[in-house]
Amino acid sequence: MPEVNASSAAPAARRSPLRIAIFGFGTVGSSVARILAESQPPQLKLTHIFNRGVARKKADWVGGDVVWSEDAEAVLASDADVIVELAGGLDPAGAWVRKALTAGKSVVTANKKLIAYYGVELERLAAANGGHLKYGAAVAGGIPVIPGIEQGLAGDSIERMEGILNGTCNFILSKMEEGADYAEVLKDAQAKGYAEADPTEDVGGFDARAKLSILMRLALRVEVDPEQIVPKAITDVAAIDFSYARDLGCTIRQIARADKTSGAVAASVGPTLVDLRSPLAWSRGTENMVVLSGKYGGDVVFSGHGAGGHPTAVAVVSDLLALAAGSRRVELPSAKAVIGSEMELPHYIRFLVYDRPGIVAEITLALAREQINIRAIVQKAGYPANALPFVVTVEPCKSSTLKRALEGIRCLDCMIAPPLDLQMLE
Ligand SMILES: NC(=O)c1ccc[n+]([C@@H]2O[C@H](COP(=O)([O-])OP(=O)(O)OC[C@H]3O[C@@H](n4cnc5c(N)ncnc54)[C@H](OP(=O)(O)O)[C@@H]3O)[C@@H](O)[C@H]2O)c1
Repeated sequence: MPEVNASSAAPAARRSPLRIAIFGFGTVGSSVARILAESQPPQLKLTHIFNRGVARKKADWVGGDVVWSEDAEAVLASDADVIVELAGGLDPAGAWVRKALTAGKSVVTANKKLIAYYGVELERLAAANGGHLKYGAAVAGGIPVIPGIEQGLAGDSIERMEGILNGTCNFILSKMEEGADYAEVLKDAQAKGYAEADPTEDVGGFDARAKLSILMRLALRVEVDPEQIVPKAITDVAAIDFSYARDLGCTIRQIARADKTSGAVAASVGPTLVDLRSPLAWSRGTENMVVLSGKYGGDVVFSGHGAGGHPTAVAVVSDLLALAAGSRRVELPSAKAVIGSEMELPHYIRFLVYDRPGIVAEITLALAREQINIRAIVQKAGYPANALPFVVTVEPCKSSTLKRALEGIRCLDCMIAPPLDLQMLE
């Protein structure tokens, strides 16, 4: 059986109702206040709202006895029992959270970056001072993946997980699957508020890797530095790739994946071919999905709205209600680890060439030199010889081995663009 301990920290001193201070009255913060105002759970009382330039934030549906403040220090020094950090970013949010925990308060946050980089330290700080740190909203927004792992799956040994952890990428890729162009759909995502003006954090895979590292700690029980996971951006995926993927019975999604076999840890984030029959292929729009594979319990799938004010606020309010109930969560011991292994997966490689005799033979030879076995060669009709796309799929191999082979191939005189290499999930 996996090692599972009851939490050693004494429960934080609790008042009823718990006094709640929200830091950051933006999309999620205002939704949390809205749910508290509408459902009025007797265990929770909103007492403070902190935000810069707070006058422009004031809303008449918030109770008249709530203190609106732009003085973080004053709210941290107040009689609030729980700080709900919803400002985001590492600074100054991290300083507020540390100060609150040091003072013995509990903290609820949706801040994946803070938890990915400093979660272990902050949990220790909470335990040392008799408070609690909860971050159920930090991964997959309104989908209870974190409480699901911490409670419902604590008795299993999770060996592998794969998921769609970034709603922006899923929106873009599922629209491209329907025929939209990348630049067009990115603009649409920005207009709908699904993507930032600078979308790098999402489309570059940095947001997904922060979330993956949080899930790795809870599910695989390994503490990895998120920077060790080198993400691959979705920006090189083109309409032609969806067309070839369909011919192979697949579509393309941004997949965050990790496994731990015989103690070796592997992780990756990037656009990936997924079988059209897989649940991962069914998720559309901003949905998120996580598939966890346990040694004893088999596969468990979580799916739903991974972002948005209200879904994320549901996770925050659920954490607050758990705190009010004493929050005797199961502690899942984890250990520091390095990503020292690579998954061996089949790959999809798309080439764009000036056609001439002998290209396939040269590619085959370069792959064979690295002991990479070709699975299929697919070429669609109707493309001009001076810009001809075709696809080679290969049997399971390490990405680093394939990279070596592709370094030689990309120098061939016929290559118009660097080959696009995507992992395939089976
Ligand atoms: N939105 C989602 O769907 C979602 C989903 C999951 C997790 N999260 C996480 O939830 C957190 C909040 O996200 P959000 O979408 O609600 O962000 P948001 O709409 O930008 O809200 C952040 C709020 O915090 C305030 N704020 C930021 N920095 C501040 C500072 N230094 N001093 C005072 N006030 C400050 C902002 O004020 P201004 O208005 O003046 O900028 C804004 O009102 C983030 O950690 C995010 O990653 C969000």
